[in-house]
Amino acid sequence: MLFPDYRGRRLRATHNFRRMIRETKLSRDDLILPLFAIEGKSVKKPIESMPGHFQLSCDHIVTMAKDARDAGIPAIILFGVPDKKDPLATRAYASDSIVQKAVRAVKEKVPEITVITDVCLCGYTDHGHCGCVENGIIDNDASLDLLAKTALSHVKAGADMVAPSDMMDGRVAEIRQALDEEGFSHIPIMSYAVKYSSAFYGPFRQAAESAPQFGDRKTYQMDPANSNEAIREATMDIEEGADIIMVKPALSYLDIIYRLKTEIDLPIAAYNVSGEYSIMKAGEMMGWVNARDMIMETLLSIKRAGADLILTYSALDVARELKD
Ligand code: PBG
Repeated sequence: MLFPDYRGRRLRATHNFRRMIRETKLSRDDLILPLFAIEGKSVKKPIESMPGHFQLSCDHIVTMAKDARDAGIPAIILFGVPDKKDPLATRAYASDSIVQKAVRAVKEKVPEITVITDVCLCGYTDHGHCGCVENGIIDNDASLDLLAKTALSHVKAGADMVAPSDMMDGRVAEIRQALDEEGFSHIPIMSYAVKYSSAFYGPFRQAAESAPQFGDRKTYQMDPANSNEAIREATMDIEEGADIIMVKPALSYLDIIYRLKTEIDLPIAAYNVSGEYSIMKAGEMMGWVNARDMIMETLLSIKRAGADLILTYSALDVARELKD
């Protein structure tokens, strides 16, 4: 197809032509809204590093869940900011802790929305690592039981799906077994299977108060240089029982999303992470960019790369826009 027989501009000429031949469409069905739950009543504490997001007490989490439902969003994912931290993350799996309370509140008041919980220890350990620490080393196998206990406590509180984000080896199998043993074989696991050690998590660590107090996460999160390793990680989690495979972050890893979409046969989720959100919001506050258009273009690119689901802090704005 060569000019002048082919003229690409013919089908770009009108809004309707463009609509008719559009290959990728963003839908409200694709969106998952992350929320941060904190103890207290009527607490709505702005997260400075993430304009438009807040640490929310359970009453406000319920309000946001209603807003999400009304905007047509199918699911929220909950992160907890606990009242206290200790070396073994006991507030991660206590039945009266923050995520468990938030799940119960949402499931009671807004049962129509799907509640996913992030399963990790970093927000609950005093050292801020995603597993327990032995002699300065993050101890993989000793962390598995705590992660499984955490997932189980979320599900007992009413969570519809659990999402382990810790990157310990073997945790999906351990969680699957713990859920099955307690009669929760119907609860799916969305695994943060392909999670890179990324500078784009910075704003989130302020939101979740989960920054590591020593060292970094490079001994468990993936090296951004690697692509084959993503296939190994995803394959391992599939064999252990994962139902959805997540890639995180999204924007710098569109090639990984594309590769997984072609090489594995499970739904793919992509996490449009805090740094991706905050740089656009910051650019808008400076008056340099149009964040709304940038966000739409970004989410479309993530979908075009092959993601079936997108976790994004822009979910509410985008869903409202898609509705109109
Ligand atoms: C916890 C967790 C992190 C994110 C989701 N779950 C942070 C981290 O690994 O430090 C990041 C989400 C974001 O940046 O939006 N392990």
